[in-house]
Amino acid sequence: CAHSQEPVPQPVLSPLTGAALFLVVTVDQGGEPAVREVLSDLNGLQRAVGFRATLDGKLSAVVGIGSRAWDRLFAGPRPADLHPFRELAGARHRAVSTPGDLLFHIRAARPDLCFALGAEIMDRLRGVVTVRDEVHGFTYFDMRDLLGFVDGTENPTGPAASAAVLIGDEDPRFSGGSYVIVQKYMHDLRAWNALPVEAQEMVIGRRKLSDIELDDAVKPVDSHVALTTIEDPDGTKHEILRDNMPFGTVGQGEFGTYFIGYARTPAVTERMLERMFLGAPPAAHDRILDFSTPVTGSLFYVPTSDFLDNLPDPPAARENEETDRADRADAVPAADGSLGIGDLRT
Ligand code: HEM
Repeated sequence: CAHSQEPVPQPVLSPLTGAALFLVVTVDQGGEPAVREVLSDLNGLQRAVGFRATLDGKLSAVVGIGSRAWDRLFAGPRPADLHPFRELAGARHRAVSTPGDLLFHIRAARPDLCFALGAEIMDRLRGVVTVRDEVHGFTYFDMRDLLGFVDGTENPTGPAASAAVLIGDEDPRFSGGSYVIVQKYMHDLRAWNALPVEAQEMVIGRRKLSDIELDDAVKPVDSHVALTTIEDPDGTKHEILRDNMPFGTVGQGEFGTYFIGYARTPAVTERMLERMFLGAPPAAHDRILDFSTPVTGSLFYVPTSDFLDNLPDPPAARENEETDRADRADAVPAADGSLGIGDLRT
């Protein structure tokens, strides 16, 4: 309705923090009602865990909903651009697409707050979801990634950030929402550290110590910065908001970057990914990929905070689905005399 107030977004624009927890789950069959409860409780849970540390804790939680989960959770219209993450297979590097119905992006100044909120959420979801990935990220020195470069410098801020990230009139029912793409990258630090710093700078497109961007005359076309800068012929820049976090396990020798990019349409992030993985002649692919391999990839719609407080109705139960479930529970023999559990031969 034209007279209603601007919808309140989830805290996607909240500032960078010292710690983050990324949790990706899929919803088990029949788990939909419990998941809806958690979605409607999320704002309250965030207050309960975070308020005691409100002065310096900066706790925030954002939940995203995947394409396959949407119609299982809600009746009514879908966000226009919601679809599963599209795998990209380049000549050398592949962006995999992996299962994810819900993403919880929990940020705080301290890891204890992320951990506590994550534990409360999982306490309510245990038994009704399958955890696909859990990453505890930290900030590293001067906002550097584990490749040693300052990460996040060119993020939009203020009104430019809102404009890049929040859906507007193009999808009025979902305005104030956002889209988010995540990928968990593992680095080959041995190979990376074998490169001289000057060569690393050519891969990224910025100086390592000073973080100054390389001059266009020197910056290679297959550098990370060159391929993720999306500009129309008329000079219009298309931006996303990143909140990447380093993570790792020193004992296992695992060193990673959790990539997370918010945008008002996933098309912008997808364009960046296409250029990185499929190349943009004359660039064959983003050189950062020679040292970084994604092991997950998922896309989610991020509803507004108001949406969570006032969820649409669940989808009407389809009659045959109900009967199916009852059949399975009682293991009623199927018409062909089998148990109706499919072919067990391999
Ligand atoms: C810039 C690191 C993946 C999009 C940068 C910069 C670094 C970096 C160090 C330069 C400083 C800055 O402006 O933030 C990484 C690492 C990644 C990764 C370690 C994973 C291994 C991605 C992915 C995307 C992306 C998957 C998009 C799909 C961007 C954008 C910029 C950027 C848009 C700013 C370009 C500009 O306007 O100058 N990244 N990145 N990054 N990255 Fe990434």
